[in-house]
Amino acid sequence: MTEAQAKKKIEDLSKEIEKHNYNYYALDNPTISDYDFDMLLEELVKLEKEFPQFLSPDSPSQRVGGAITKVFKTVKHKYAMLSLSNSYSKEELSDFDERVKKGLGLGGNDLFGGTGGVEYVCELKFDGLSISLTYEHGKLVKAVTRGDGVQGDDVTTNAKTIRSIPLQLKGDFPDFFEIRGEIYMSHKMFDEINKEREEIGEAPLANPRNSASGTMKMQDSGIVAKRKLECFVYYMMGDKLPAKTQYQNLEMAKKWGFRTSPQTQLCGSMEEVFAFIDHWDKARHKLPFDIDGIVIKVNDYKQQQNLGFTAKSPRWAIAYKFKAEQVSTVLEKVTYQVGRTGSITPVANLKPVLLAGTTVKRASLHNADIIEKLDVREGDYVYVEKGGEIIPKIVGVDLSKRPKGLEPLKYITKCPECGAKLERKEEEANHYCVNENGCPPQIKGKMEHFVSRKAMDIDSLGGETIEQLYKEGLVKNIADLYDLKKEQLLPLERMAEKSANNLIEGIEASKKVPFERVLYAIGIRHVGETTAKKIARKVKNMDALLQASEEELLHIEEVGEIIAKSIAHFFSQPDNRKIVERLQKHGLQFALSEEQLQNTSNKLEGKTFVISGTFERHSRDELKDMIEKNGGKNSGSISGKTSFVLAGDNMGPEKLKKAEKLGVQIISEADFEKMIQ
Ligand code: IVH
Repeated sequence: MTEAQAKKKIEDLSKEIEKHNYNYYALDNPTISDYDFDMLLEELVKLEKEFPQFLSPDSPSQRVGGAITKVFKTVKHKYAMLSLSNSYSKEELSDFDERVKKGLGLGGNDLFGGTGGVEYVCELKFDGLSISLTYEHGKLVKAVTRGDGVQGDDVTTNAKTIRSIPLQLKGDFPDFFEIRGEIYMSHKMFDEINKEREEIGEAPLANPRNSASGTMKMQDSGIVAKRKLECFVYYMMGDKLPAKTQYQNLEMAKKWGFRTSPQTQLCGSMEEVFAFIDHWDKARHKLPFDIDGIVIKVNDYKQQQNLGFTAKSPRWAIAYKFKAEQVSTVLEKVTYQVGRTGSITPVANLKPVLLAGTTVKRASLHNADIIEKLDVREGDYVYVEKGGEIIPKIVGVDLSKRPKGLEPLKYITKCPECGAKLERKEEEANHYCVNENGCPPQIKGKMEHFVSRKAMDIDSLGGETIEQLYKEGLVKNIADLYDLKKEQLLPLERMAEKSANNLIEGIEASKKVPFERVLYAIGIRHVGETTAKKIARKVKNMDALLQASEEELLHIEEVGEIIAKSIAHFFSQPDNRKIVERLQKHGLQFALSEEQLQNTSNKLEGKTFVISGTFERHSRDELKDMIEKNGGKNSGSISGKTSFVLAGDNMGPEKLKKAEKLGVQIISEADFEKMIQ
């Protein structure tokens, strides 16, 4: 392909991908499958790697992420990011309506029963984190979190991975404007993440809101991209806005490519406002994301301006917060669940009760501390609430209804599944069953994790078959899977010849799965997919990992004290060592492949690089990869810890100044190539 052809192809692909993004997010009308979309994106990434001179900072390939931000820069907001005053009743809203009209010099309802010259816009109040997006000449130049309202964190790199935030606008937009919105996580994504966290033995995230804000503060934008955050915009500011009302400005924003909420409604009277609230108080449970209320805004920007602000919030808008729904019911019994990592969760079994549209029979009691704090006893009437959390929780006990003679709860001391002793580490809230390799739910859970898609990907082996194999005594640990013979499988219930063949073939094929995934699959607590990758790259093979001291492990990116201790603990257990040895004998990948090993060294060990500008021979992602492969670290911003700034063309003047001020050495692409030769 010639340069000219590549340039054209990159432009065409970028346009096509952005068009699909627009169809999907702004219009809610996708015209391509996810798979085909990913293929287009992959093609673009590949071409940009080959022809880095045509990679633009607003290319849709930025959606894939990869850049690391070590420290988020603090940025002052051009317009302060205020919050809304809250209200909890219709009376309070009527008071707001009166204040608005008084403030605008309008007397009561007008002759037509309308709102007396005021129109309101009712919007959903999305429960995520607010973001301020700055666009210059149609390009996203900055994304900043709310912070303390005066200044926030620059999270542009992470925001660029969010597909509903346009990188390049379409149509007729002002040269400069800011638009505010809410970044949130859908229920679907939240459930997926918690499933994975459970698999690697991490405590589940409490709710999608925390999950979204935690994700936006992650250093690795590649992980942010995988979490598929979403964004609705809800307010535009600037000197040359296209329209004079909130409603029309949002309509324009949609035309330019932003995602606006289809639920937004223009209301001519408070009755309409109340009807909107009543509708969404019920219907919110069916939305695929969380909202915690409704926002009511004066539609006309001129009126907004006349009403102005108090010190904390605008006088032209108010939030109506939904009450967390609460019911009281009887706690019949407390049972205990054992997770894959042996963590014990006390569960409240309740007399079934209707709450927020679903029948609730069980609620989590979290841990022993919470039980003690609530002093909850079997037989008590308890208050159950469904707030931001997906799983209902018990928030209190109705002591006035406590029957006489109820005994305080005694927390179990032995595992309900295998009878082994429970342990509780000082810094942890949960109790654990110590019988790691002998406790049934732990064994089965470990196996389910081992065969899962991101681990060994043995899809012919599902949860039910694992249960069967375990029950029949055919497997007691992950290494046993590799001893399975077809003849042992055939007598099992629902196991036809074909499924047996598939299973054996699937297990055999898994021997080719690369080392980093094997490391993830063996189920070391706290070692997730990314951490496993970073460890594998650094240690290169399992033997080296077995030899590594805790101190040495701490030098690996992403490995802190908890992970280092967990790895050391894992390999200190004779049972685990035996399993690992057997897996090695069966021929699983215990080292990086030749291809992975090529071009790796420790030449950049202990050195931190910041890449800035564009380069002649490599794309930025390639350079980052080369740095990591040679033992160095990447960082997004220059600090006292930076060893080198790898500078290409068009390096930002700010970065140059900072590097010079801190005396950080600036090197060229050619210097860098020499370093790793
Ligand atoms: S308007 C000047 N509209 O609620 C205030 N906010 O305390 C402009 N939020 O921090 C905010 N949905 O993060 C507005 N449709 C919506 C919203 C919304 C959620 C959040 C926002 C803000 C908080 C208000």
